Amino acid sequence: MRVQVVIIGGGPSGLLLGQLLHKQGIEAVVLERKTKDYVLSRIRAGVLETGMVRMLEEAGVAERLHREGFVHEGTQIAFDDEMFHIDFKALTGTPVIVYGQTEVTRDLYEAREAAGAKTIFEVENVAIHGADSDAPYVTFDKNGTEHRIDCDFVAGCDGFHGVSRQTIPLGVRREYEKTYPFGWLGILSRTRPVHDELIYASSPRGFALCSMRNEKLSRYYIQCALSDHPGDWTDDAFWQELKRRIPEEVAERLETGPSIEKSIAPLRSFVTEPMRWGRLFLCGDAAHIVPPTGAKGLNTAASDVHYLYNGLRRHYQDGDDEGLDRYSEQALLRVWKAERFSWWFSGLLHRFPDQSPFDLKMQEADIAFLRDNESQQRAFAENYVGLPY
Ligand code: APR
Ligand code: PHB
Repeated sequence: MRVQVVIIGGGPSGLLLGQLLHKQGIEAVVLERKTKDYVLSRIRAGVLETGMVRMLEEAGVAERLHREGFVHEGTQIAFDDEMFHIDFKALTGTPVIVYGQTEVTRDLYEAREAAGAKTIFEVENVAIHGADSDAPYVTFDKNGTEHRIDCDFVAGCDGFHGVSRQTIPLGVRREYEKTYPFGWLGILSRTRPVHDELIYASSPRGFALCSMRNEKLSRYYIQCALSDHPGDWTDDAFWQELKRRIPEEVAERLETGPSIEKSIAPLRSFVTEPMRWGRLFLCGDAAHIVPPTGAKGLNTAASDVHYLYNGLRRHYQDGDDEGLDRYSEQALLRVWKAERFSWWFSGLLHRFPDQSPFDLKMQEADIAFLRDNESQQRAFAENYVGLPY
């Protein structure tokens, strides 16, 4: 079998790239290790930058998101019992859309199926060969049989634990990583969101986030110890702790109920450079991870897809390789800015085990500066709604 592009990974990066290429008549096959149901059971963040929404429109998969997504013109920042608003619309002219990543993925699978584009699920032992040659190919096992696909390019969209990044030789690859000494315990509940905007809260007991999926489905998080297990936390203990970390008047309005999902995610900042090796291009979580504060994971994956898609389009339609040649440099420039914002925003609101009284005062002053200074609010808003690409 031969295709123009092999996409490894059927998460949002791989699916969005596949859909955009399909629209341009560029043939791609998606290889996914899990089943579609498994991929669609993962719960991830739910804030879309306008740039990503534009790409979903271009891919022809934005109809449901415009119907069901919530337009958020700002966000709330709380510390102790105080809360203030950052008005994205007034500061940048742009809102964000709250729409779950799972729903984006579902819409992309539906569009892919409707277009008759090929996805091979439950592949094992995927291996990339000859990425630094002119004749790359990918091998994999499916139902105990080995298959081979020859191609022009390989898009490594297989997430942090995928095979694509590992294919780049260690002598070429440079990795930058920071881990944080806490995790996020998240729950999903069939309750009404406590506020019509997201609330990012800093309290002496640690960070909390009040988010949502729709008017009847809420998503809440609290900073927790890395040694905690979701089973350690009863729903009641979760709600009690959340209430102690958000302003009292918000806590009083909080509607609680049984959790329908509960999980703990560690926080990590990670970037690998370069994002291209020969004919292999890394996209999304395969190349970088951000802590979830600010919801930049999916959106940064989308900006990679933007650069790669345009590079491939120019290659096939105009015979121009400049976009592909500049892919790593252009994608990384934006990736590092998203890393900076997520790292800064995480540092602003979490409690760190080794924080000195001086560090706490700096955090407090940083929050007060954001509350009181319009330029700082504008810089925050520009990052939150998404830097241009
Ligand atoms: N072979 C085939 N598929 C693989 C392999 C492999 N060796 N390894 C991983 N995969 C699949 C995973 O099962 C997963 O479905 O690749 C997909 C990668 O998807 P994600 O991890 O979701 O990564 P990505 O598509 O880059 O999405 C961006 O944004 O909000 C963040 O982390 C969040 O998933 C999100 C990401
Ligand atoms: C979420 O709704 O899951 C969410 C929202 C914003 C974030 C992180 C997660 O910054």
